[in-house]
This record gives sequence, C-alpha cells and structure tokens, in this order.
Amino acid sequence: MMHTLRWHHEGEDHHLWPLLLEREPGSSAVLDAMQAEHHAIDGPVLALEAHARGLVAGRTEPRDVMDAVKTLAKPLIEHLAHEEDEAMEIVSRVLSHRDWNDFEQRAWIDGYTVWESVRFVAWMVDGVEWNRPIRRRAGLPAPIYWAVVKPLALIAHVPGLSIWAGTPAARVRSRVA
Ligand SMILES: [Fe+2]
Repeated sequence: MMHTLRWHHEGEDHHLWPLLLEREPGSSAVLDAMQAEHHAIDGPVLALEAHARGLVAGRTEPRDVMDAVKTLAKPLIEHLAHEEDEAMEIVSRVLSHRDWNDFEQRAWIDGYTVWESVRFVAWMVDGVEWNRPIRRRAGLPAPIYWAVVKPLALIAHVPGLSIWAGTPAARVRSRVA
C-alpha cells in the first residue's frame, strides 16, 4: 500500500501539477501546497514501513505500528480533503476527460511493469465479496471481472500463491463488503 501511495503521489507531482500550472498559472499557490503536503507525508510513510518491518522481525510492538498508522493518517486525510476541494476543482475546470485519461496513462500506467500491475489489481480485489451490487458500484465490465478480477480473487485464497504468501498478512481473513 505504501508503494502504491508513493507511486500515486509521484505521478501527481511529476505530471499533474505541471500540467495544471501550464493551463492555469494563477493556481501555483494551491499546486505548491499539494507538493509540500506530499513531501510532509513521506516521513510518516517511511516510519510506518520501518515499524511494519520491525513487527515482522519481532522487534516492534503492534501498538507502535498502530501509532505510526495514526501519525500517517492525519496529514494524509487532511491532504486528501485539500486535494479534493481545491486541486480537483482546478482539474475539473481546465482538463478534459481525454486530458485526464492521457495524464493517468503517463503518470501511473506507463511505468508499471506487468507484474506490478497484477500485484496492484490482486491487492485491490483481495478480500472483497464480489456480489452484483459491488461489481456494479465498481463499474467493472463483465469480461474484465471474469477474465481478470475473479481469477485474481480466487488465487488470493490459494496458500503459497497469494501476494501475501510468506508474510503475517496471509493470516488476515477479514472480508471487505
Ligand atoms: Fe495527492
């Protein structure tokens, strides 16, 4: 999850803010704030990763990991609210749907290897109860569901094949509805 979060922020920093600045030079204060907030989140991300590794190695207490999650949650949630309120407002004003799709392709899809993409989708679908309403809400076309999502969701439950195999997370069995 931390890898994906970093990838997401880097995509915005390298591709989205410069594009918005080019389209609307008056938005620089908001865009500078977005970048500064991403940088402020880097420290808590590193700390959480270190505590999570420590937990696996037996040198960190679970409560230290939970504290690290809480330390990350505050600036991350504040940033998401700020981004939704102000940066996405600029996006909806100055970018077309086509611009947005091109940006997503350049920022997040092009640099991902096939294995990273599979791992990302497997992570997204793991533990989800894929009933009809959930599939409809996720906007999943039936061929994608049957060809990609369903097999990955099934694989997640095969010991040794799950992306969590060999980690303590393999023992977590809660379902997301
Ligand atoms: Fe962001």
